[in-house]
Amino acid sequence: MKQPSVIAPSILSANFAKLGEEVDNVLAAGADWVHFDVMDNHYVPNLTIGPLVCEALRKHGVTAPIDVHLMVKPVDRIVPDFAKAGASLISFHPEASDHIDRTLGLIRDSGCKAGLVFNPATPLSHLDYVLDKLDLILIMSVNPGFGGQSFIPAALEKLRRAREIIDRSGRAIRLEVDGGVKVENAAEVAKAGADTFVSGSAIFGQKDYRTVVAAMRAAIDGA
Ligand code: DX5
Ligand code: ZN
Repeated sequence: MKQPSVIAPSILSANFAKLGEEVDNVLAAGADWVHFDVMDNHYVPNLTIGPLVCEALRKHGVTAPIDVHLMVKPVDRIVPDFAKAGASLISFHPEASDHIDRTLGLIRDSGCKAGLVFNPATPLSHLDYVLDKLDLILIMSVNPGFGGQSFIPAALEKLRRAREIIDRSGRAIRLEVDGGVKVENAAEVAKAGADTFVSGSAIFGQKDYRTVVAAMRAAIDGA
């Protein structure tokens, strides 16, 4: 069943020189979660932030869920570090783990919710035997590595299929979308079945976060 919608701004597009303030502002503007993109210059061709920054946000006073999107290989070694640093959810790409079931178990045993991330060309068949270990399915609507890319339309069909799989399972699994999501396409993406919306450049690229978050929420809830 579709759950209440969540807007998760990706801090990849925030001003890192004042990250705490940026996160406070976007949450005060009505956002629900903090989407935290971890890139290693190995699994993806970019390098971003790690557990230290997650911990710093918690120490700063952020209480909202922190949605850690791991774009790293290997995965398992860094999972306990993020759990200790205050991550709420941890998602990873099946291609980056040699033992997907084990990694999902490790995330949950660390006290976090677990998610599996699907690149544009990654088949949903990875879901077949692990639905009982999943709290979130993340459909990438760009190739991972950078903010500000255009939404890949084939992600809509994939969202529809993932929605069917979730509904058929009867489980409370969130369906998240990440990449190129903005006010203009949010309704279409919601109609395809997403309930959790990552958006980086479309939110942090605006001066007034409250206006853009409200417009996105209206588009999603009106879909
Ligand atoms: C891409 C990241 C995304 C990215 C989204 O690899 O996983 O979270 O920050 O940025 P936009 O919304 O600008 O496409
Ligand atoms: Zn992401």
